[in-house]
Amino acid sequence: MTDEIIRSAPDRPIGEVWLVGAGPGAADLLTVRAWRLLRRAEVVVYDRLVGPDILDLVPPHIERIFVGKMRARHVCPQAGINGLLIELARAGKRVLRLKGGDPFVFGRGGEELEALAAAGIPFQVVPGVTAAIGCAAAAAIPLTHRALAQTLIFTTGHTVDGELDLNWRLLAEPGQTLAVYMGIKALASLCRRLIEHGRPATTPAALIENGTYEHQRVVTGTLATLPALAPDPRLAGPSLILVGEVVALGQSFGWLAGALAPRAASTPPVGELDAPGPGASG
Ligand SMILES: C[S@@+](CC[C@H](N)C(=O)[O-])C[C@H]1O[C@@H](n2cnc3c(N)ncnc32)[C@H](O)[C@@H]1O
Repeated sequence: MTDEIIRSAPDRPIGEVWLVGAGPGAADLLTVRAWRLLRRAEVVVYDRLVGPDILDLVPPHIERIFVGKMRARHVCPQAGINGLLIELARAGKRVLRLKGGDPFVFGRGGEELEALAAAGIPFQVVPGVTAAIGCAAAAAIPLTHRALAQTLIFTTGHTVDGELDLNWRLLAEPGQTLAVYMGIKALASLCRRLIEHGRPATTPAALIENGTYEHQRVVTGTLATLPALAPDPRLAGPSLILVGEVVALGQSFGWLAGALAPRAASTPPVGELDAPGPGASG
């Protein structure tokens, strides 16, 4: 980032950056705070994982800048995103940095805050529902359970030079649930390594693709069978892997089979948050 780009506009006080989690996809999983800030922002800088229904909530007069990343193809490298946020804030703008899920869970939110803090830009952080929480709820899989899982681990299946570099001994411990982000490409090796390190091959496992969207897909199996059942990673949408005995509970609820209607308790459209609640006067 050059000095020229990040120089303050002379006639406006410095702006600020709101680092906001958009949740896993469904618009009505956006927090009320995020939704309020969306209306106050002057520019929204957003990622690939921010769902289209959420972008529809951005008022049309607000500028939008896409800085999404595709797997292995960065539309805008991280340093460029950091510099852009600083540049916009120094131009006096109220900048809403909208990230999929929660900004601090595998979202590089920490790196963006480091850059903002170093540049003296005021900021605030708004949490979002992270993919593991959203996907588990959407598939009726309780992430913890007193009898089955006392520990919950969020980890990444992102490979470095094609290799998964994880603490397999820790991950293969019994009595815990693993939520694996960015793991679809390495699914076969993930399952194999867990089995090699002592997790039974019969351990239930699920892959949730496009979790919380209407078109979400849930594939369930075991560590031994899931890789063959999973969709082609080149064609699949964002996918989260859950491993642990709790996955079988999700299946047993019959939720996915449609015995209980997943949408029965759906919330009103987000726009209706504007309306006064029951009993409100005036
Ligand atoms: C770069 S990480 C960002 C995680 C995000 N900050 C969060 O808190 O959910 C992207 C990964 O999150 C997971 N993910 C995000 N949204 C998802 C969704 N709707 N369904 C399934 N997995 C999702 C996938 O594993 C995807 O590869």
